Amino acid sequence: MIREVLRMGDPRLLACCAPVERFGSPELAVLLADMRDTMAHLNGAGLAAPQIGVSLRVVIFGVNGNPRYPEIEEVPQTVLINPEIEPLAKDLEEGWEGCLSVPGLRGWVPRWRRVRYRGFCADGSPLERDVEGFHARVVQHECDHLDGILYPMRVRDFTRFGFIEELFPGQELPPED
Ligand code: NI
Repeated sequence: MIREVLRMGDPRLLACCAPVERFGSPELAVLLADMRDTMAHLNGAGLAAPQIGVSLRVVIFGVNGNPRYPEIEEVPQTVLINPEIEPLAKDLEEGWEGCLSVPGLRGWVPRWRRVRYRGFCADGSPLERDVEGFHARVVQHECDHLDGILYPMRVRDFTRFGFIEELFPGQELPPED
């Protein structure tokens, strides 16, 4: 079912979410199905459970190859539960981000360039990946949601934060998360 995505200003987006304690439950399956439906409906690159008002440490993300955005790297469609992120190098990389909870805006956000993430799949099996670039950016953005952090809180250069139509007139942009 497509759910309403909460927007910045809603206090539920600021909460620190609780870990999932039971895998393979019908409730978790419904949550994941709703998250997938909602992300697909909005053409998003990722979605965190608190964005649909569920305060659990669950994120989904993924970007399929699209000839319209050849510069954007593909990211495998992933369910990640109770995630942990560890930077693999000290270097930060800045890049544009958008968020389905902050519609119409983009900001220039520093993230770890290379990270290892660990967590669990929907069935409780462990997942671990070393990633970099856009994949690393998306997972850091999604996991921030679980601690009540929205990307504008990480913007340092506010000359590079604004409305899409003003920042990128006439351009097609990659999806928001
Ligand atoms: Ni977001």
